[in-house]
Amino acid sequence: MSVLHLTVFLGLFSFNLALDNGLALTPPMGWLTWQRFRCITDCVKYPNECISEALIKRTADRMVDEGYLKAGYNYVGIDDCWLEKERDVHGNLVPDRQRFPNGMKAVADYLHDRGFKFALYQDYGTKTCMGYPGVLGHEAGDINSFVKWDVDYIKLDGCFIDTAKMDEGYPYFGKLLNDSGRPIVYSCSWPAYQKEPNYASIAKHCNLWRNWDDIQDSWGSLSSIMTWFAEHQDEFTKYAGPGQWNDPDMLLIGNFGLSLDQAKVQMAVWSILAAPLLMSVDLDTIRQEFKEILLNRDIINIDQDSLGKPGSRVWNQSKCEIWNRKLADESYALAFVNRRDDGAPYSVKVSFDSMKIPKQAYEVNDLYKEEMDRSFGPTGEFETRINPSGVKFYKFIPKKFNEIDVKT
Ligand code: GLA
Repeated sequence: MSVLHLTVFLGLFSFNLALDNGLALTPPMGWLTWQRFRCITDCVKYPNECISEALIKRTADRMVDEGYLKAGYNYVGIDDCWLEKERDVHGNLVPDRQRFPNGMKAVADYLHDRGFKFALYQDYGTKTCMGYPGVLGHEAGDINSFVKWDVDYIKLDGCFIDTAKMDEGYPYFGKLLNDSGRPIVYSCSWPAYQKEPNYASIAKHCNLWRNWDDIQDSWGSLSSIMTWFAEHQDEFTKYAGPGQWNDPDMLLIGNFGLSLDQAKVQMAVWSILAAPLLMSVDLDTIRQEFKEILLNRDIINIDQDSLGKPGSRVWNQSKCEIWNRKLADESYALAFVNRRDDGAPYSVKVSFDSMKIPKQAYEVNDLYKEEMDRSFGPTGEFETRINPSGVKFYKFIPKKFNEIDVKT
């Protein structure tokens, strides 16, 4: 059997074991309401912030006009707080009548007409985390509603349900989604609620899954998520790949809590983790420098790399870290993160072994374009200087591959 045949054969084999919807072959990218807009429902007091059709439409318009859609951010999603507090007399979910006066199909149409896909939040329990009706006991009927509304992505949260029931409940809901005939990305919050999640099963039934705590708008929160992911990476990194992704939660970039350097850290580490890139920010007021981070094509390409193999933290000393991801073209994305807060930029000098890359000659490109490109290797140590709570993010491209590129 040739290498090609073997790859195709193995590909088919693993595909059969996974959620059979052919979606999310690279980590989903888009925009979601929660992190920035939470459960703001008072449109009189906060007309530009309340969870509403108007917010979705103006965000979609911005995403088209300012290049986010073109850069790959193609899901637009409504998180919690879109519902009426009660189902209708037939037991159907009802979108808030004031804030979604034309219903959800109208929202979907608006998005689809502009080239987006429509993401919507629900919860597997009796109620959503903010107390709106959940799907439990109404699973099939609610999926009917999602299909009628042309929903393309469901984030299924896990409040108000016994966590022991999730191991059966999430696969059951996933099967109903599959059986609906509409391709719907299935985002599960299942492991975030459990102490010892069964990742083999989660990866089989979900396109992406929230592993841990909610992200909040601060460096402390972002930092704790990075630590948690690094300390638990061996439990779940191996389950990710095309169609199945770990989800460290939304991007904070452009909001209130992160400095510019800290925002660069999140974008770099998320792309190493092959994380979904879900912005949650007011695109009318975002500052240019944050927008540039979100639209950095080189970094988006790392996140979306076709090999689909997430990276991990490979080195951790004196509060500095190296995160490494191998890419389809045999190059490496290396993020040097400084978690120190003692003032001046901090220098690190590290070996090939510390970086976990093969000993060879590289061209090294700074993905944030703060430094000139440079050569490194095949011997010696790599030195770089990182701002406090900042990152240096490089692509290490093996030289021999460059030369081959030039000849062909
Ligand atoms: C949970 C989730 C968040 C968000 C809220 C909505 O906390 O983890 O991402 O969806 O619920 O209530």
